Amino acid sequence: MGILDGRLQIEASAASGIEAVVKRELSALGYSPSGANYGRIRFNGDFKDVLRANIFLRTANRVRIVLAEFDARTFDALFDQTNAIRWKDILPMNAAITVNAKSIKSKLFSVRSIQSIVKKAIVSAMQRDYNISRVSENGVTYEIEAAIIEDKATLTLDTSGDGLHKRGYRTYLGDAPLRETLASAMIQLSVWKPDRPFIDPFCGSGTIPVEAALIGLNIASGMNRGFACERFDGAPDIRSEVQQEAEQLINRNVKLHISGFDINPDAIRLALKHAERAGVKDYIHLQTADARTLSSKRPRGVIVTNPPYGERLMEKREAEALYREFGEVCKAMPDWCVYAITSNNAFEKYFGKKADKVRKLYNSQLECNFYQYLAPLPKRADDTL
Ligand SMILES: C[S@@+](CC[C@H](N)C(=O)[O-])C[C@H]1O[C@@H](n2cnc3c(N)ncnc32)[C@H](O)[C@@H]1O
Repeated sequence: MGILDGRLQIEASAASGIEAVVKRELSALGYSPSGANYGRIRFNGDFKDVLRANIFLRTANRVRIVLAEFDARTFDALFDQTNAIRWKDILPMNAAITVNAKSIKSKLFSVRSIQSIVKKAIVSAMQRDYNISRVSENGVTYEIEAAIIEDKATLTLDTSGDGLHKRGYRTYLGDAPLRETLASAMIQLSVWKPDRPFIDPFCGSGTIPVEAALIGLNIASGMNRGFACERFDGAPDIRSEVQQEAEQLINRNVKLHISGFDINPDAIRLALKHAERAGVKDYIHLQTADARTLSSKRPRGVIVTNPPYGERLMEKREAEALYREFGEVCKAMPDWCVYAITSNNAFEKYFGKKADKVRKLYNSQLECNFYQYLAPLPKRADDTL
């Protein structure tokens, strides 16, 4: 049995700090995910589950099939164990093979050497098993990852192709946009539920409000794009089945109150395009506005935002002055919860309040804190007696 018709160990990778969100998403999809190890979460399934995970997971970076795991303390062991895998059951005779490598806390640390040994071992196994003198590599691309972590090699096959943050709605780049996967994780780490008002006062190209609307309407994040596994040689046509499942789950009858504001009208124009491409334009209010004048008549809302950090967009001091004024307007909305990500470690000082919770997250490579401010729970009627 090969990867197309057998039971598989599947691995979803997550950025540091959001592993628990990926796990929660996998559980909600009906899987039993393992604990996260170096940002990798495993679960069992078949080829259809691989496609389901790609289409439904909002916060994972990519989905891979685990091919083999073994101790690899020497290059000979790495070659022999890789060469012993039945690649004929995994790759077609003309597969174009790309090998990526990584090494963490291991004797074998040269990523280039790991890459070239693994590639050689795969090609040699294909020549032997297919009885051919050379692998033409003029077919479909298969991307293998060799990750050596604490001297244990794990070989996986990528099934996503483009990273899962690429939903297909963002074709226009704004200033310092946030990855869609991170935006979705921030929302899922907040207390927001679709029946509560939602605002991103620094929305830029609209990533956070668009992701909130996708969650609110229950639109699967990968519905409008393809994945590497669909191009695998002989892949069964299961897309329509999974697509149908995703379509049936969409609920356009919910009443959402999601707003995105930005001081830059060009950013708002971009956000409108992205919202339209994501099919959520009618569910988000996007408008040019200054966060320093933010207010809302709606009660008990949630702000999730990615304000300027003062690293890439503005001078640090300008950003800090902005945090101070943002803190003031938030003070005037005491029943709203506020969640903000920034790399500026003095955010709490300028915002004027100590966060209830701080979580370390990474915006691309940049280490950031996700500051979480909870509003007091509403008083019950009998509290006033
Ligand atoms: C880090 S970017 C947000 C990027 C956004 N999350 C995205 O994915 O595109 C910060 C945004 O804050 C906006 N901004 C700066 N000062 C502002 C202010 N006083 N009021 C509202 N927006 C402001 C900038 O125009 C910029 O788009």
